[in-house]
Amino acid sequence: MTIAPSTDHIRETPHALLTVSGLNAWYGDAHVLFDVALSVAPGEVLALTGRNGAGKSTVLKCVMGLEARRRGELHWEGRSLLGLPTHEIARSGIGYVPEDRRIFTDLTVLENLETGRRAPRPGLPAWTPEQLFAMFPNLAAMPHRRAAHMSGGEQQMLTIARTLMGNPRLVLLDEPSEGVAPIIVAQMAEAIAGMKRQGLAVLLSEQNAHFVARVADREVRLDQGRVVD
Ligand SMILES: Nc1ncnc2c1ncn2[C@@H]1O[C@H](COP(=O)(O)OP(=O)(O)OP(=O)(O)O)[C@@H](O)[C@H]1O
Ligand SMILES: [Mg+2]
Repeated sequence: MTIAPSTDHIRETPHALLTVSGLNAWYGDAHVLFDVALSVAPGEVLALTGRNGAGKSTVLKCVMGLEARRRGELHWEGRSLLGLPTHEIARSGIGYVPEDRRIFTDLTVLENLETGRRAPRPGLPAWTPEQLFAMFPNLAAMPHRRAAHMSGGEQQMLTIARTLMGNPRLVLLDEPSEGVAPIIVAQMAEAIAGMKRQGLAVLLSEQNAHFVARVADREVRLDQGRVVD
């Protein structure tokens, strides 16, 4: 597998699943990311931190091929993600949980989980609703509740659980703890630890320093679209 050479040995991970280097991004004429580099390996949780507008969400969107115009290197399992449409990026094993919750409000918890189901990936166990209920006890208490009648935090959990039903190898989480009650934040941290134990790679955008300290193996901090040390 070819990984672009990096001069930054701290951010370079052996056996990385995803390697980003020289990433620049634009919304229209506004240049918002400048030579961003990072990599994440199986079983590793990497936190992207930085204040509002630093570019955290844009990095995740660039991985998924959404919204922003981008240039640079995005290597996923040894091949480039550039030029692939978003649905193929998702199908290749990258799960994305955006800031706004993506669930079907008319469907129940179990029905939402079924909409996310995809074939298992070689070498990784397939997630089942039972495992996800063990991971998210709040969801286990309401399998037949319509998502419209759940709290924001519960909807956030359901979005993550539905994404895991797709058996991704890498999960992108955009501010999973934002606007969520403390009890749910604690379950969210436990869930991320569970993903790590299953060998998944996790890349999360997060402003909550306590949450980062609790769940992340490493941190890459952004300031005005640049990685800072
Ligand atoms: N759809 C868009 N169109 C134009 N500019 C955008 C768009 N989305 C983000 N931006 C701009 O790009 C820059 C990076 O935004 P981004 O959302 O990636 O930051 P962030 O670190 O995720 O911030 P937050 O903590 O508020 O979520 C900001 O200057 C923002 O105003
Ligand atoms: Mg954001």
